[in-house]
Amino acid sequence: MAILVLGGAGYIGSHTVYELIDAGRDVVVVDNLLTGFRQAVHPKARFYQADIRDRAAMDKVFEAEDIEGVVHFAASSQVGESMSDPLKYYDNNLYGTTVLLQSMVAHGVKKIVFSSTAATYGEPETVPILESDKTQPTNCYGETKLAMEHMMSWVSKAHGLKYVALRYFNACGAHISGAIGEAHDPETHLVPIILQVPNGQRDHVSIFGDDYPTKDGTCVRDYIHVSDLAQAHILALDYLLRGGDNNVFNLGNGVGFTVKEVIDTARTVTGHPIPAEVSPRRAGDPAQLIASSAKAVEVLGWKPKYNDLGTIISTAWKWHQSHPNGYGEG
Ligand code: UFG
Repeated sequence: MAILVLGGAGYIGSHTVYELIDAGRDVVVVDNLLTGFRQAVHPKARFYQADIRDRAAMDKVFEAEDIEGVVHFAASSQVGESMSDPLKYYDNNLYGTTVLLQSMVAHGVKKIVFSSTAATYGEPETVPILESDKTQPTNCYGETKLAMEHMMSWVSKAHGLKYVALRYFNACGAHISGAIGEAHDPETHLVPIILQVPNGQRDHVSIFGDDYPTKDGTCVRDYIHVSDLAQAHILALDYLLRGGDNNVFNLGNGVGFTVKEVIDTARTVTGHPIPAEVSPRRAGDPAQLIASSAKAVEVLGWKPKYNDLGTIISTAWKWHQSHPNGYGEG
């Protein structure tokens, strides 16, 4: 039987496909390639170019393949864009998931692991953040992800679907082989933006605000390696396949780094001075997001391998040096 990965040509999806195939699983990938890349799909995965909003296309995949579980990454994921174009997020994330679940229910496929986010919490009252903490998203992206969690819960009651929601903190880094990595257009994430400086693609990095109530005034985030996130999906899938109940897990390292500390670490990794300039705060940025992943460690047996920021950034640097334009030409 096969595992169906929706959005398997995207950043976290492609890394999860690599880990699944390394673990000996049979993998089917569906991606509409709007933000994902065909080259990111592992050559051993069977690939269908399709949109999860296309019911007929999804039905065809479930009819052609013997699917035992679904891992669902196919969603829009930019916080800023979700504020300027919320309906895109309702359409792709909520309507897309509706169609997917309709097709799963119709074909009797009952296990799903899917990407949720730290953005479901909004501005945390305390850190580290626990799964039981209040969820009050401050952006439309987080709102649609939280609504996806609720949708799964209702579909579970009605149709016996079992789900695991994985709330990621700040995904970064690249596959240890350097074969796949992070490629977004436009790029908005801190680590790839910093590495564009030593790669000769920008002359400095902007620090979005240095007047936050943190140790050096810049925002604190919990940076987690993408391959560690990928491993957690396999563990969550196995948990469901063993009969585990619906659950929600935070995924982070439990350690916070300021923007300045991330830039300093990248200076050490690359040997480049990486000039930085303070600019105004970016709207909607919480001061601090740090995960408690104790539940994932305890229930899933998750053990992140890359808990050192320097190592995480080294893997990203290897990828960006060998692929300065991502999966594009040159
Ligand atoms: N930052 C800068 N300069 C930049 C880019 C980012 O100072 O050029 C700062 C941001 O202000 C933030 C930190 O670096 O404080 C990290 O920013 P990212 O854009 O890399 O990541 P976010 O924490 O904003 O977003 C991540 C995920 C989202 C998720 C969110 C939860 O990418 O999908 O965490 O709040 F929704």
